[in-house]
Amino acid sequence: MQIEIELLKDFESGLDPEHPEQSKIPAKVLGYGEISTIFEIDTPATRDFACKRMPIFQSREEIEHYARIYNDYNNLLQKEIGINVPDFGFVWFAAADSKIVAFDLQRKLPAESIGNRAIHMMDTDNTRALFFCVLRELMKVWSFNQAHPARALGIDGQISNWSIAGFSAENPRITSDTKLLYIDTSTPMMKKNAVEQLDPELFLRSAPSFLRWLIRWLFLEGVMTRYYDARLVTIDLIANFYKEQRPELVPLLVAAANDFYRTEGSKLDLAPFTEKDVSAYYREDKTIWIVFLALRHFDRWLHKHILRKPYVYILPGKIRR
Ligand SMILES: Nc1ncnc2c1ncn2[C@@H]1O[C@H](COP(=O)(O)OP(=O)(O)OP(=O)(O)O)[C@@H](O)[C@H]1O
Ligand SMILES: [Mg+2]
Repeated sequence: MQIEIELLKDFESGLDPEHPEQSKIPAKVLGYGEISTIFEIDTPATRDFACKRMPIFQSREEIEHYARIYNDYNNLLQKEIGINVPDFGFVWFAAADSKIVAFDLQRKLPAESIGNRAIHMMDTDNTRALFFCVLRELMKVWSFNQAHPARALGIDGQISNWSIAGFSAENPRITSDTKLLYIDTSTPMMKKNAVEQLDPELFLRSAPSFLRWLIRWLFLEGVMTRYYDARLVTIDLIANFYKEQRPELVPLLVAAANDFYRTEGSKLDLAPFTEKDVSAYYREDKTIWIVFLALRHFDRWLHKHILRKPYVYILPGKIRR
């Protein structure tokens, strides 16, 4: 996928990270992840892209390594594992004061096709069918990891990370033939020769520097390893329905997961899930991210009012949970 690097440089030089929509070249926010912000840059040449801006790299080596594993991860998913990903690209350059900025680019997909939007337009049967489709996609990863443990991949199964191909908001219908695309490829967790390739420290960069040691100690280890664990990824996916304001679906999804791992997923030999597994997990996870985001807002405030230094990250506002 090709994009004019000059356009992104112009965008970066006029960017207002606190109010991206008021930048010199305006940007429209498409979605927030826990760490980054995904947006569309409002020019005719860039409107078809979803851009994820990553101002976290400190050296050329770091960024070249990241670019390599980002490409490898996308290709592995698509070509070896059989999970569709949107067309993708990666661009980086040195911006003002030689700060390195990178953009992950993806073909922009219809907003209503993204799982966390779609579940608000569907009845229970279709939602359950969608959940099964996601478990089936994830199963491809677990099978690959079992066969190639030294090249294992991590994946984040959250409902907001999937786009439903050909989704129609007027007539939403999910069957076992429905195709999904996995969009959250910017955290390319993967092993080579059994060694993790993604440096988790990268994702701490957007955290306040005075608190990195605390965050590292509190949860970094857990946050990375959970994505290699079928049980935790499944619990995380179900718990997601609390955050997406559909808590009434949780019991049904727990039952559906148990059906799935008794049948299609039986080779993983997972112990049955309970609602308690999910609610306990959610309480902890919710706290982690609320604290993390609050500290980042505080750090931005510090930069602005006390340190009087530019704050380069785009932060989500309040996220409803
Ligand atoms: N290609 C795309 N087309 C349309 N919308 C997108 C696209 N990519 C991302 N989005 C929107 O942005 C949201 C977050 O994207 P993504 O899942 O890639 O980020 P994230 O990885 O969760 O962020 P982080 O890693 O920082 O937690 C998606 O749920 C979706 O709403
Ligand atoms: Mg995501």
